Amino acid sequence: MDRPYIICHMLTSLDGKIIGDFLNEDRTAYFIQAYEEIDERYECKAWMCGRITMEEHFTQGNTLELKSEDILAIPRMDYVAQKTAKSYAVAVDPSGKLGWTTNSISKVNDDQTGDHIIEVLTEQVPDAYLNHLRQLGISYIFGGKDKLDFNLVVKKLKSVFSIDELLLEGGGFVNGSLLSQGLIDELSLILVPIADGASKSVTLFETGAYLQNSQPVNFFLKSIEKLDDDGLWIRYLTKKSN
Ligand SMILES: NC(=O)c1ccc[n+]([C@@H]2O[C@H](COP(=O)([O-])OP(=O)(O)OC[C@H]3O[C@@H](n4cnc5c(N)ncnc54)[C@H](OP(=O)(O)O)[C@@H]3O)[C@@H](O)[C@H]2O)c1
Repeated sequence: MDRPYIICHMLTSLDGKIIGDFLNEDRTAYFIQAYEEIDERYECKAWMCGRITMEEHFTQGNTLELKSEDILAIPRMDYVAQKTAKSYAVAVDPSGKLGWTTNSISKVNDDQTGDHIIEVLTEQVPDAYLNHLRQLGISYIFGGKDKLDFNLVVKKLKSVFSIDELLLEGGGFVNGSLLSQGLIDELSLILVPIADGASKSVTLFETGAYLQNSQPVNFFLKSIEKLDDDGLWIRYLTKKSN
């Protein structure tokens, strides 16, 4: 395969929400821990999240004040700061909004080796942002001129960084983008036995304005495991296994 095998690993309420008050219920802490443990079990070299998720969990909304004067035009070519990192965090950030201050993320605990950051950009990103990423030693790849093509993005992850397996970890808009391009091979779902009930919160797969249309996608059961406290770990494939 000329792209990584892609596993979408997510935790949802019974009504398919990925955010909401159900996350603050006492019971949910156990399922969040199960989510993290299963994430580790996959032993993937790389994981991917959308700009909003990265902002909420990893840059904490930090904004950059970048000066554009005296910055020379930077060619729109991929920039590889670390080709042989042990692990990678891939950030889908089409216009360069994420306020990174280091080039790696310690995802679970601080004493872990950091996951080297790869930014996924469009060519519309300002030169000052590219300059900032280069100064920090953050890698970046271009996924399109003004729109992201995830086929191109994931092929580059394989050919440039030798990523054979990728955990796609939300949010709903980035999941929906890869789903609509037929790029999800497996769904790993931690189902929390709580109905959130909110009508507007983000669900597992969403369709952003950047997508033409969305088609139903079929899934086929691979395995199901009962978790404690009535939760489930459900694994589905998008191709029938023989
Ligand atoms: N329950 C779980 O397992 C789980 C896992 C992960 C995240 N979450 C939660 O999910 C929430 C965020 O989800 P979300 O769906 O709102 O946001 P998201 O998917 O994290 O990020 C969406 C952003 O990514 C960029 N993007 C995604 N697809 C794109 C495409 N096809 N073309 C161009 N840009 C694209 C856009 O950035 P720009 O706006 O910059 O253009 C878009 O606004 C957070 O609250 C997070 O905590 C839950």
